[in-house]
Amino acid sequence: MPERSGRLEGKVAIVTGAGSSGPGVGNGRATATLFAREGARVLLVDMAADRAEETRRMIADEGGAASTFQADVTAADDCRRMVDACLERYGRLDILDNNVGISRRGTVVEVSEADWDHIMAVNVKTIVLASKYAIPSMIETGGGSIINISSIAGLRAHSSTPYTASKAAVIGLTISMAADHGPDGIRTNCIAPGLVYTPMVAPRMDDDLRQIRSGAAPMRTEGTAWDIGNAALFLASEEARWINGVILPVDAGLVATSPVTYQTLAQQVRL
Ligand SMILES: NC(=O)c1ccc[n+]([C@@H]2O[C@H](COP(=O)([O-])OP(=O)(O)OC[C@H]3O[C@@H](n4cnc5c(N)ncnc54)[C@H](O)[C@@H]3O)[C@@H](O)[C@H]2O)c1
Repeated sequence: MPERSGRLEGKVAIVTGAGSSGPGVGNGRATATLFAREGARVLLVDMAADRAEETRRMIADEGGAASTFQADVTAADDCRRMVDACLERYGRLDILDNNVGISRRGTVVEVSEADWDHIMAVNVKTIVLASKYAIPSMIETGGGSIINISSIAGLRAHSSTPYTASKAAVIGLTISMAADHGPDGIRTNCIAPGLVYTPMVAPRMDDDLRQIRSGAAPMRTEGTAWDIGNAALFLASEEARWINGVILPVDAGLVATSPVTYQTLAQQVRL
């Protein structure tokens, strides 16, 4: 059995997108598992019931407490029912991990209006709607922690204009929510994952591309969903009780470096 130190003992969490879009462990699944491992009871929300169920089984196998809830979190009514279900089952809500997200490639010339609307709905509106219904119940119990999942694509151009625009909006949402709800004892922070290897990106990767991605950041190692989950666990825990409005890249230092100076020049000229 994995080690536990009870960092979230007594807490209740919702993780959206708690399944994984393919075999393996995505950011939502890893985060939910780590929350449960540290004592939280977790509502595993996904539009694909079987994906959430697989996460529930993984958590149950470790002796953790979690249950599933099927919802499309782009819909206000589903978000309201999700929070109601959490309160009915567990009596409170302390942590909301807004993890749902999808990627689409394209420039403004290429992207269709329908795709633009869809990506903004999944990557941005879901956070607004889930938080809208979660925040009043957090206020009732004296506060909480909201973690919004952006991407380093929200900080740097990254081959997909709709994805970058939506993930930059998540950063804007985070800092505004941190200011709005800090006085209620609700901390809102954001994780910007780097080039982690998860089921979301695996279908687009061959070994060469995987190696290029792993070597892109100064640490030259591959990141996994557990790296993102551990950052979320920290932000959810009391250890982060004075951290609010932070954008935390979890990327092995990729956004800290300029690709030209660091990679091209440093490798060729040995600077
Ligand atoms: N994998 C990476 O390299 C990477 C990098 C940067 C950021 N991210 C971000 O991490 C987050 C999640 O990544 P992941 O690896 O867990 O993805 P994933 O694709 O493995 O899992 C996402 C889950 O969300 C669910 N989902 C999608 N739309 C939904 C909706 N409208 N309602 C309810 N559930 C829905 C899917 O069914 C799926 O199970 C995303 O926001 C993504 O943009 C990932």
